[in-house]
Amino acid sequence: MNGLFITIEGPDGAGKSTLVKKLQTAVAAETKRPLVITREPGGSEIAEEIRDIILNPLHTKMDARTEALLLAAGRRQHVVEKIRPALERGEIVLCDRFVDSSVAYQGQGRGIGMDKVIAINAFAVEDLKPDITLYLDIASDEGLKRIKSKHSNRKQDRLELEEITFHEKVREGYEQLIEEDPNRFSRIDASQVPAKVFEDAWAILKPRLK
Ligand SMILES: Nc1ncnc2c1ncn2[C@@H]1O[C@H](COP(=O)(O)OP(=O)(O)OP(=O)(O)O)[C@@H](O)[C@H]1O
Ligand SMILES: [Mg+2]
Repeated sequence: MNGLFITIEGPDGAGKSTLVKKLQTAVAAETKRPLVITREPGGSEIAEEIRDIILNPLHTKMDARTEALLLAAGRRQHVVEKIRPALERGEIVLCDRFVDSSVAYQGQGRGIGMDKVIAINAFAVEDLKPDITLYLDIASDEGLKRIKSKHSNRKQDRLELEEITFHEKVREGYEQLIEEDPNRFSRIDASQVPAKVFEDAWAILKPRLK
């Protein structure tokens, strides 16, 4: 595969979606290589339907392993329908969340175990791995504050509504992943203003687009 697979990771409210929009413009101005912007959970029609089941705040009975399996199932469909074909065509794929999110949220946050979640995701994505992962680092309460702020006009989903201790465990999960694969991850201080977050991200990505 000749494509470039970039993922953006980090806790809720870190600014991932905000950064993706800025990167979309910058990449388009920098290179003629086609760019696919996508996100998880979801990213394809079937996977978006699975997303709605997972994030529905009414689904308070959902078991942690059910949640992890649904995420992996949606991811499988997203990889097969969208990510892999784009990479095979040599395109750049920029994905808002991927396997690392499941390992941090379900593996560590829910306490299923990171290894178990890595295993079901290996079944789902086979050997696909991001080339670059930008990790937007922010204190859990700061990220949640952003989501809850008056300026953010969207409803909170089932995972965002979890206790702060859950979100702190998620962050620990990410830290372990970074420790295990320091070459793939680039840490960005996401407490900075959006323009500075973008500047740091762009300094990492720009040289890799050639
Ligand atoms: N660097 C920043 N500083 C302050 N506020 C920010 C910053 N980046 C984004 N925001 C604001 O914080 C809120 C959450 O941002 P955004 O949706 O980009 O985060 P996210 O990481 O995609 O969250 P989620 O995990 O819920 O998808 C938005 O209201 C956004 O405008
Ligand atoms: Mg987002």
